[in-house]
Formats: sequence, structure tokens, C-alpha cells
Amino acid sequence: MPRVEATAYASIAFIKYWGKAEGPGNRPATDSIGINLEALKTVTTAVPIDGDDQVFLDGEPVTGAGLTKLTAFLQLVRELADATTGFRIESHNAFPTAAGLASSSSGYAALAAAASAAVGLELTLPDLSALARRGSGSAARSIPGGFVRMRSTALEPHAVTLQTAEALPLAFAVGIVDVGPKAISSRDGMNRTTATSSYHPGWIERAQTDCDAFEQALERGDLDAAGALAEANALAMHADAMGARPPVVYFRGPTLEAFHLAARLRRQGHPVYATCDAGPHPILFFHRDATEVATDALTNLPGIASVLVSGTAPGVQMRVLP
Ligand code: PMV
Repeated sequence: MPRVEATAYASIAFIKYWGKAEGPGNRPATDSIGINLEALKTVTTAVPIDGDDQVFLDGEPVTGAGLTKLTAFLQLVRELADATTGFRIESHNAFPTAAGLASSSSGYAALAAAASAAVGLELTLPDLSALARRGSGSAARSIPGGFVRMRSTALEPHAVTLQTAEALPLAFAVGIVDVGPKAISSRDGMNRTTATSSYHPGWIERAQTDCDAFEQALERGDLDAAGALAEANALAMHADAMGARPPVVYFRGPTLEAFHLAARLRRQGHPVYATCDAGPHPILFFHRDATEVATDALTNLPGIASVLVSGTAPGVQMRVLP
């Protein structure tokens, strides 16, 4: 049996996935649009073994509830391949995990690709994307490259490329707020929001129209329209989450300040926009020409411990190791 290495990059959403459909299969309640970031990379190797699954994350064995979740995902791969083998999985992240930096997207995308290929499955990109979704919704978007959209209404929701990354000349700056692991996982945050936030029906409706409008902005190459939509969509997602009981609050002070910073830079003529996933870390995205001004400004924002500057990345890549 081959040893397969897969490299995947975290998908940052411009239009967020926030809320699950009822029923099994980890289906999203909303469409979402994202792109992969080269600074947020996961490399995973998978090899079939006799016996139980063994998973190592950055050299440390994964145990307990973490292992149970990964074994349940690997079971899906076994079922698809009609196999009973165990897996030895080694995964390395090039960025802090479980802090809201979308590590689950690159993680499950790389795991789906490496494990399925290691048992001899040759999945199409849509099928691989749908498999990755079972681990984490955003992971479906890490499989293809470019600007991708996942449609929630598909039989087996999966992400497809809308446009190449060149449709907008973007670069990114991820601001790391030093608060350690996040308090509420995206899964728990979504479930609580869906069950208790009175804003949720409005959010679901808005997510669909935001996706359509963002897709049109992409077709026109209109960075300002796309940026404004993405920024508003991120704030709407967090407002929905903050409307939950008890509230789901990912923002810290520097997170909100980064949104004000983006607005200030726009007033100075720089096309800079802010977004944020299920954690405290703000992400600025901007025209490549504004990389220096946006990165400097974010680096100097009080409470930002460090900044990762990033371009976009391709979809998942695989190779068989000797
Ligand atoms: O893929 P999950 O279950 O970690 O959820 C991702 C949720 C957000 O990052 C907040 C939004 C998104 O679309 O990536």
C-alpha cells in the first residue's frame, strides 16, 4: 500500500458558511465563497497499517475525543473504499492550530486527499470536496483552487471553482491575537447560533444573496464591491453568533479595531477590507499594491502579536512517497 502525502491550504471565506442543515452528513445551511491562503498550509501523510488508526499532529500523538473524531472520519474513507485497514496519519501545520485560523479546512482537506489515495481511491475533485466536507464544512472549499463556491442545495454539497485567483489581485495579512486556543469550536458555535439566535433566519437569507452578489463582483473584477460585501458579510455572521444565547463572541478588542483600521485605510485611498472567521484573528485583504501599507498598519495595531502576510494558494496537491 502506498504512502501518500497531501498538501492543502486553509480556505478563508469571503462569504461565510455559518449554520448547518438539519440531518446527517455535515451539510451547510448556506452557500459560501472562499479562497486558499498559502501561509496557512497543512502537509499530511497517510499510510495503511494493520490495527487501529494512529494520528500524529506536529509530532504529538492525538488521543481521546480528538482521535475519536478523526477515526470517525477515516471510517468514511474505509467505507468508500470497502476496506478495513487502519491508517497511520502524520500531519503538520505551518500555523497555530485550533485558534480560529481555519486549521480544520486545510487539515481535513489534506486528510481526505491523503487517506483516500492511500487506500487506492481515485476520487474526482467534487467527490473529494464532498468527503472533506464531512470532516469540516470549510474543508470542502480547500480542495479546488481559485475563488470557490460551495452550494448548500447540492445533493452532496461540494465546492467548485468560480474564477481563478487572478480574478482579483488580492493579498492578505492575518493578524494573530495572542489569546491561545479559542473557547468555542466553530461546530458548537454554529449549533448554538442555529438553535438560539433570533437573527439566524435573516442571516441565512442574506448569505445566499451575498454569495450571488460576490460572484457577480468577481465576474466584473470589482475589488471594491467584493471587499465591501465580504466585510459586511463577516460582521453579519458575527452579529448572528453574538445573538445566540449564551452569546458566541469570537471578537476581541483588536479584532474590532482591525475593521476600523480597514475603514481608515480606505478613507486614505487604499483598497483594504477586513474579515474574521470563528476566532479572534482579523484578516485584512487588499489590492496587492497596498500590501506594505496594510501590513504595517496591522502590525502596529495594539494587541496584534504577529502578522502573517499571504498570497493565494492552489487546491490540494498529492504525491506518492517512495
Ligand atoms: O469548517 P468549520 O466547521 O470549521 O466552519 C468554518 C466556519 C467559518 O470559518 C467561520 C466560516 C467559513 O466559511 O470558513
